[in-house]
Amino acid sequence: MKTAITEMFGIEHPIIQGGMHYVGFAEMAAAVSNAGGLGIITGLTQKTPADLANEIAKCRDMTDKPFGVNITFLPTLNPPDYPAIVKAVIDGGVKVVETAGRNPSEVLPYLKDAGIKVIHKCTSVRHSLKAQDIGCDAVSVDGFECGGHPGEDDIPNMILLPRAADELDIPFVSSGGQADGRSLVASLAMGAQGMNMGTRFIATKEAPVHENVKQAIVAASELDTRLVMRPLRNTERVLTNDAVERLLEKEKALGADLKFEDIIEEVAGVYPRIMMNGEMDAGAWSCGMVAGLIYDIPTCKELIDRIMVEADQIINERLAGFVKGTVSA
Ligand SMILES: Cc1cc2nc3c(=O)[nH]c(=O)nc-3n(C[C@H](O)[C@H](O)[C@H](O)COP(=O)(O)O)c2cc1C
Repeated sequence: MKTAITEMFGIEHPIIQGGMHYVGFAEMAAAVSNAGGLGIITGLTQKTPADLANEIAKCRDMTDKPFGVNITFLPTLNPPDYPAIVKAVIDGGVKVVETAGRNPSEVLPYLKDAGIKVIHKCTSVRHSLKAQDIGCDAVSVDGFECGGHPGEDDIPNMILLPRAADELDIPFVSSGGQADGRSLVASLAMGAQGMNMGTRFIATKEAPVHENVKQAIVAASELDTRLVMRPLRNTERVLTNDAVERLLEKEKALGADLKFEDIIEEVAGVYPRIMMNGEMDAGAWSCGMVAGLIYDIPTCKELIDRIMVEADQIINERLAGFVKGTVSA
């Protein structure tokens, strides 16, 4: 399949693996890229810019296909060393960067000067337009369903994607709630040029996370995520567990007085314990509603091939049948 996104990033299939904290290591990104999608290393999971440089080099050893790096701008008083992170990306010869968190205007000129394509992930039409205005090449439009940070507008992709299509001139991919060939065809129908998946890629053989995490996603239904940190305007969609229910009790009890320090035990430093040690009740970790559509743990190649075959069948058989009047159900 050829779309503006496959052409822009030099990939075979219009499928991107979004940056994921403590998941987006070289193994994950290389597996997705080797399967014909665009794998993405999560920049901030690496403790230092030098570690990121090593992870990029490791990924390059594992694939000769294009891969990207995610740079997330965190709402924190002690920001990571973004200039050094950008330098590691440029020096590493990376050709695609996914930005997220807030608009990437402070790093964009350096990335563009280095010939890097920038896809900005955001959760609203207005932020997508801002990304277009400042010179991003593409946008990843992240709906309310998504795992991670859905923003505060709560607009699901059924509305958000066609709205983005109505407003944007640059290409965009759908993000949030995408899992299979149906997701891809629906995204394309609503104006996207491809799709970005997070949660679905965690439940793959190559995802470098503890088996408990993969099993938790397969076991979860679409009813099992919760929104946390809404009172802090830093909403995150997470899989429910004991720590999350405790956190929500605190949010309820403290109301508008809630401070980050009140929930630090449930959110700070929990990713390595969950993703690497498989301590599933250690704290809140991002997971999308799409868990309800995830039933197995294939390899990345099996997953992507299956999506492309299914998409082809839907377009050329099911939908074409409707148009020709040869299919009645
Ligand atoms: C465990 C996990 C960690 C994530 N960490 C990040 C991150 O560090 N930076 C980022 O931009 N997005 C992050 N995301 C969001 C994903 O890149 C992607 O936008 C999201 O998962 C899409 O929704 P889906 O899970 O329904 O596919 C994370 C998502 C998950 C599930």
